[in-house]
Amino acid sequence: MSLPRIKTCAVRQTLQSPLRDFLLPALSQPTRRQFLSTTTKNNATVSSTPSPSTDPSRSQPKRKPLTQEQRDFLSSALRVNQAGELAATLIYTAQTPPLVNAHPHLRPLMAHMYAQEEGHFNTFNSLIAKHRVRPTALYPLWSVLATGLGWSTAVMGREAAMACTEAVETEIGDHYNNQIRTLLEMFEQWETEGYEVGKELQDLITTLRRIRDEELEHLDHAVDNDAKKAEPHWLLTGVIRLGCRGAIWVSERIEQTQITDL
Ligand SMILES: [Fe+2]
Ligand SMILES: [Fe+2]
Repeated sequence: MSLPRIKTCAVRQTLQSPLRDFLLPALSQPTRRQFLSTTTKNNATVSSTPSPSTDPSRSQPKRKPLTQEQRDFLSSALRVNQAGELAATLIYTAQTPPLVNAHPHLRPLMAHMYAQEEGHFNTFNSLIAKHRVRPTALYPLWSVLATGLGWSTAVMGREAAMACTEAVETEIGDHYNNQIRTLLEMFEQWETEGYEVGKELQDLITTLRRIRDEELEHLDHAVDNDAKKAEPHWLLTGVIRLGCRGAIWVSERIEQTQITDL
């Protein structure tokens, strides 16, 4: 099991992006405007879009640029999601050899969960590259910690490894739910004001819901495989959940601030 090659390419592409706010270029690029805007059914417009009065047969929906706070939210959300999915692939990569060696029947399950995490990671690699979000500056640290966590819990035994998955997926499930809730609140506000939600944001929430569901599937697999029998379960899951919350908090706030060549 090896890490996807796309990871290095996507991160390099992101780090080589211009030093400017990640969504700022989109303000002047119509092809990106859909991600930045909401649209409305009543055909009203703001100054950034063509007036429907000039072409009534092709009326443009009203568009509402995101606020800076909303841009910051989307930036930090994509940043932390990408870092978290990298950590997930590394946890499973480190867990699989000792775990499968001792419990060969777990090989299909580990391969299945890894494949899904790899898919999540590729998804957020693409999104941060597309929207010029810099990855967290603590990327190398999270890589070391995730690998250490995966290896150490697998060496502790099957129950501990599954308890690790239970703890991580509990936090990640809550994390994605919080992002989905925030987006739904944004959508509701826009719709109250008569705007529609742009397709890219609709696609984003669909993606977040799919990935959230897959994370919760992993949580169920862990519990089905005796995660609760880990000793001491409360301490192991408590420490890991606390670590996840800390990593999420930091990753949301600390971004790569220099162009570097990997
Ligand atoms: Fe994931
Ligand atoms: Fe997961």
